[in-house]
Amino acid sequence: MTRASLDKQPHEVASMFDGIAAKYDLTNDVISLGQARLWRKEVAKAVGARPGHVVLDLAAGTATSSLPFAATGAYVVPCDFSLGMLMEGKKKHSWLPLTAGDATKLPFGDDVFDTVTISFGLRNVQDTDAALRELYRVTKPGGQVVICEFSQPTWGPFRTVYMEYLMRALPPVARTVVSDPEPYVYLAESIREWPDQPALAALLQKAGWSGVAWRNLSGGIVALHRGFKD
Ligand SMILES: C[S@@+](CC[C@H](N)C(=O)[O-])C[C@H]1O[C@@H](n2cnc3c(N)ncnc32)[C@H](O)[C@@H]1O
Repeated sequence: MTRASLDKQPHEVASMFDGIAAKYDLTNDVISLGQARLWRKEVAKAVGARPGHVVLDLAAGTATSSLPFAATGAYVVPCDFSLGMLMEGKKKHSWLPLTAGDATKLPFGDDVFDTVTISFGLRNVQDTDAALRELYRVTKPGGQVVICEFSQPTWGPFRTVYMEYLMRALPPVARTVVSDPEPYVYLAESIREWPDQPALAALLQKAGWSGVAWRNLSGGIVALHRGFKD
């Protein structure tokens, strides 16, 4: 078993994010070579939030991923189970209703949100199926889910280079910003173990979502999946 699957115990994942919370946003920009900002713009387009919409940003961390939705005038609820990440978010964006909650037991009623979205979070949740079912439960009929997650580059030679970059370069690059590169070893390993685009689409369908489709970003380094609640 690899470190990624061993360390997916919820309390270990939460404390790992507590530990990197203060430098999370900076490190993100460095290791994604600035691509993270571009991916967030595409998520915002897919979510299509507008005034009057109620949006759940699950696994929101420091709530950086929530900002583009809030900027439209929608009511956005950032939710995460790492108190360290939430406190960092509260320091920066005190006006947002940051909420503590576990993706597999969401602290919300049924049929509440127009859109539920999760960026770079689903891969870290121990029970993916349970999280997808919970997201479905809290979405209004006619509402949608948008998932932004690392995926598999579609062009074979690039996929090989990318996996090499990830496995070998990520921890040393991260070490230039943070003292403990261990979370970035975990990041690289968890990306390798994560379902590819069609496999994640199948998990969404199994959880009840309909009209499931995806779009690749940066050649498939990241994929945006969408589904609807009938
Ligand atoms: C890589 S961060 C992503 C943060 C933010 N969405 C972004 O795009 O910057 C992943 C987040 O998932 C959260 N997370 C992991 N498992 C979770 C769970 N079961 N319930 C709630 N949050 C979870 C972690 O605490 C962490 O803040």
